[in-house]
Amino acid sequence: MVIGLTLVLALAPQIKAQEPQWVARPLPALQEFRSNDGVASVVLEAREQTVQIDGITFDAMIYNGDYAGPLIRVHPGDLLNVRLVNHLHESTNIHFHGYQGSPLGPSDNMHILVDPGETFDYSVRIPLTQPPGLYWFHSHVHHDAERQVMRGLSGTLIVEGTTDEFPALKGIKEQVLVFKEDRLVTSDDALVNQYFHRYIRTMSGALFSQIAMRPGETQLWRIANEGADQPLRLVLKGHTFRIIGRDGSATTREIETDELRIDPAGRVDALVDAGDAGTYELSSPGVYTGSGKVRPLGVVQVSGIAATGIQKQEEFPLTVDLRAATIDARRTVVMTQNPAEGEYYLDGKLFNHARVDTRVPLGNVEEWLIRNDTNDYHTFHIHQVSFQVVEINGVAASFDGRRDTVEIPVHGTVKIRMAFSDPLILGEFMYHCHILEHEDKGMMATIEVYDPASEPASRPADP
Ligand code: C2O
Ligand code: CU
Ligand code: CU
Repeated sequence: MVIGLTLVLALAPQIKAQEPQWVARPLPALQEFRSNDGVASVVLEAREQTVQIDGITFDAMIYNGDYAGPLIRVHPGDLLNVRLVNHLHESTNIHFHGYQGSPLGPSDNMHILVDPGETFDYSVRIPLTQPPGLYWFHSHVHHDAERQVMRGLSGTLIVEGTTDEFPALKGIKEQVLVFKEDRLVTSDDALVNQYFHRYIRTMSGALFSQIAMRPGETQLWRIANEGADQPLRLVLKGHTFRIIGRDGSATTREIETDELRIDPAGRVDALVDAGDAGTYELSSPGVYTGSGKVRPLGVVQVSGIAATGIQKQEEFPLTVDLRAATIDARRTVVMTQNPAEGEYYLDGKLFNHARVDTRVPLGNVEEWLIRNDTNDYHTFHIHQVSFQVVEINGVAASFDGRRDTVEIPVHGTVKIRMAFSDPLILGEFMYHCHILEHEDKGMMATIEVYDPASEPASRPADP
């Protein structure tokens, strides 16, 4: 919630960059919707609105008055009905990121555009095969996606079932941490300009929050980077993260790390052990950090009656290892750019919605080499399917599970494998760089998965 959280600032008028005196408030709760009897009915009213977050006022574009965005909880097999009411002065739409169902009709269809003043009813069937985990949804209007997502037009989707995959987690306390970022280029707020370098990063709609844990307790932190352009780095002082899921899919083992790095659009499910009573700083090192090297995000307050933690997880849901698969086709996707012209390309081309760039017969298991021919940071994302990373810069990658978003190193390559086997995904959808600035400026392409039984395999991709 964006409402009523004021920040106590040790900021005298007209003084230069000075660190605010943070007062941690409890992590704001997200506006939550749940499915009932197999149906989730959600109304999203998109509006331009001025929001106030911890004393900073800015112009946002948000669903239902909440900058953090709603949280929708569904189960595999459910029908997700979303009525999008567009009160904006521009067109918008919704993409369900990580969704492995249909890209046709009123589902996760990128040809839908909802004009100002219009209403559209999305009807999205969650496949029974959709992996339980953390997903999100966001506006996906070519040329406007970066701005609309930055201003707030995104929300979080949880496909329930993680505690069935990991029975030891039954009853575990969840923290859903939704990260957004916005460049407040037009702000004349001294704090924004001088402390925040015009760049704010919020966690569940607040700049500085307190997360409560009990000594010895283990919590499940579900962390979504819903930022438009920036990777998210996350550190909890004196603690590690035990990763059990990425991009909605369970990993193949617990991956323990001191610092999380989550690409834009990426998600992580991680177990966090509270340890001993105390106050521990949660922060984000690196990019646009304000006056220091690290941007504080809040504290974890460990206190109260001791709880029993959760042991290291040894049993993981089975994921097919595609390293052993027979490959039906190999393709290369090349990322190049001309920032001076504001142009970013896939395979030398700017996005054109009227063109199909890649045609794949249903049933193919493919290996794609994604090559970054630039000095810039890029990420690769594809709709409707998840992939297994098998090689990074020519070096074999360990089998950690599936992803739907991956960083492509500067002047480097990543090899991925994916199975286009589910008839639910027949139709056209997108692959692109998920740095939305680049996507808006052309670094996106259309793929069509077709049924080889009813269409000639020889129809070439459009030029
Ligand atoms: Cu979140 Cu086309 O992507
Ligand atoms: Cu997507
Ligand atoms: Cu990019």
